[in-house]
Amino acid sequence: PEIGCLSIIVLGASGDLAKKKTFPALFHLYCQGFLPPIEVHIFGYARTKISDDELRNRIRGYLVSERSASPSKDVSKFLQLIKYVSGSYDAAEGFQMLDKEISKHETSKNSLEGSSRRLFYLALPPSVYPSVCRMIRRYCMNKSNLSGWTRIVVEKPFGRDLGSAEELSSQIGELFDEPQIYRIDHYLGKELVQNLLVLRFANRFFLPLWNRDNIDNVQIVFREDFGTEGRGGYFDEYGIIRDIIQNHLLQVLCLVAMEKPVSLKPERIRDEKVKVLQSVLPIKDEEVVLGQYEGYRDDPTVPDHSNTPTFATVILRIHNERWEGVPFILKAGKALNSRKAEIRVQFKDVPGDIFKCKKQGRNEFVIRLQPSEAMYMKLMVKQPGLEMSTVQSELDLSYRQRYQGVTIPEAYERLILDTIRGDQQHFVRRDELKAAWEIFTPLLHRIDNGEMKPIPYQAGSRGPAEADELLEKAGYVQTHGYIWIPPTL
Ligand code: BG6
Repeated sequence: PEIGCLSIIVLGASGDLAKKKTFPALFHLYCQGFLPPIEVHIFGYARTKISDDELRNRIRGYLVSERSASPSKDVSKFLQLIKYVSGSYDAAEGFQMLDKEISKHETSKNSLEGSSRRLFYLALPPSVYPSVCRMIRRYCMNKSNLSGWTRIVVEKPFGRDLGSAEELSSQIGELFDEPQIYRIDHYLGKELVQNLLVLRFANRFFLPLWNRDNIDNVQIVFREDFGTEGRGGYFDEYGIIRDIIQNHLLQVLCLVAMEKPVSLKPERIRDEKVKVLQSVLPIKDEEVVLGQYEGYRDDPTVPDHSNTPTFATVILRIHNERWEGVPFILKAGKALNSRKAEIRVQFKDVPGDIFKCKKQGRNEFVIRLQPSEAMYMKLMVKQPGLEMSTVQSELDLSYRQRYQGVTIPEAYERLILDTIRGDQQHFVRRDELKAAWEIFTPLLHRIDNGEMKPIPYQAGSRGPAEADELLEKAGYVQTHGYIWIPPTL
C-alpha cells in the first residue's frame, strides 16, 4: 500500500452534498480505519468566510455512526482532521492559500516519508467545474511527482445534453487525464448493483437463461414517495430523465445487459458497458410516457408553466444478438406511492403448459436495490396440501436476514475509498458518458422544446395510468394478488 500524505479537499464544503454525503462518508471511512490520522488531512474549501470550528459545527450533526464504539469521541477526533480555507472558485488567491495549507503538513516532520496524494472532491455545481479544475491544475497539483497523484471527483449533472456534456468533458480533459478523473454515479456504489457482475457471471443458473430466448422483458425502476421539496429550482432545470434515468438507471442497465468482460480490469468492464450503450436504438416517442405530479408547480422556485417531467417511463431496445426484441423498461418517478429501486427480469411463459386450469404466473427474478436489499425469484410450486394445484411462491435471499450483523456500506463511502485506491471500475468513463447522452439527447430536446408534454398525475399515486398501459403493451405481465414481503427477523 502507498504511504505518505493523503489530503482530501472538499470543494463546496458548506453545501448540501458535502454535508449530507461527502463528509459523512469520510467519517465512516475514518471510523473503520481507512483514513489514518497520521497520513490524512481533510480540507474544506468554499466562498463563505467562516472559521475551522464553524465548518466543523455545520458538519457535526450529519456525522452518525452505528459502527463506532464511542461515536462522540470519534466525531470530535474526525472533526479535528478538518481545516477550512475560504476563497472564490475562479481566482488564484484562494487556491494558492489552499496549496500552502496542504503543503504545510506534507512537509511537516510528523508526516511519513512518501508520496503526496491529493484528492479533490468537487461538491459544486458543474458550471464552476472548468474554472475550479483550471485553478487546481495551476496551483494545487501534488508536489512529489514521482510517487504521488492528484485526482478529482465530480458529480452529475455532467452537462444537460450531448453538446454541453462533450464541452465540459473537453474542458476538463485539457487539464486532467482520464485516469485522474472520477465521475461519480452513486448507484454504482450500491451493494446490489455491485453484486450484478458476480451474480451474472459466477452462476451457471443464469448464464444460459440471460438472453432473448428466455427473458421477455426487463424493468429497472426507481420510485420515490416524496416530491422535489426544497430543490425544485435545481430539479426543474433537469427533470427526471437527467436526474435519474440517463445516469443511475442506465448504469444499472449496462450491468444487466453487457457481455462478459474479458477480465475484471476496470477498463475491460467499462469497454463492455460502452458497447451496450452504443447498441441502444433511437427511442421512439410512442415508447415514452412522461408525467408531472399535481402540485409540483406550486413550489415557488418552479416556473408556473414548467414542462419538466417528474415521472418517466422509457423503453430502450438493445440491438444485438443477445437482446433483440427484449424491451428494457426504465421507469422513474417522484411523489409516487412508494419508495424503492429494483430490477425485474421477467421470463417468458412456459411453452406447452399442462397446468391449464389456471393462468400460471411468470417466473420473475427481482433484485431489490433498496430499501430492504434482497434478491428473490418468483416461481410456481404445488400448493401444499391434498389438491394438485399450483401457486406462486419465491426463493428469497433477503440481506438483512441472511447477513445478520453485516453493515452494508454507503455508496459514497465505497466510492471515495475507490478513488483513494485508484480503482475506476465504478466510475463513468468519458466515452461511456457520451454514449449515454447520445441515447437521451433527442428525446430531451423534444421535451425542452415543448413538443412532448408530461401527463399530470396525483402525488402519492402509481403515476400516470398510461405508463402501466405502455408496460402491458411491452409485454410485462403483472402478477395480481401477490406481493413479496421483506421478511422480518
Ligand atoms: C440523486 C438525485 O442523484 O439520487 C435525487 O439527484 C434522488 O433526485 C437521489 O433523490 C436518490 O438516491 P438514493 O441513493 O436515495 O436512491
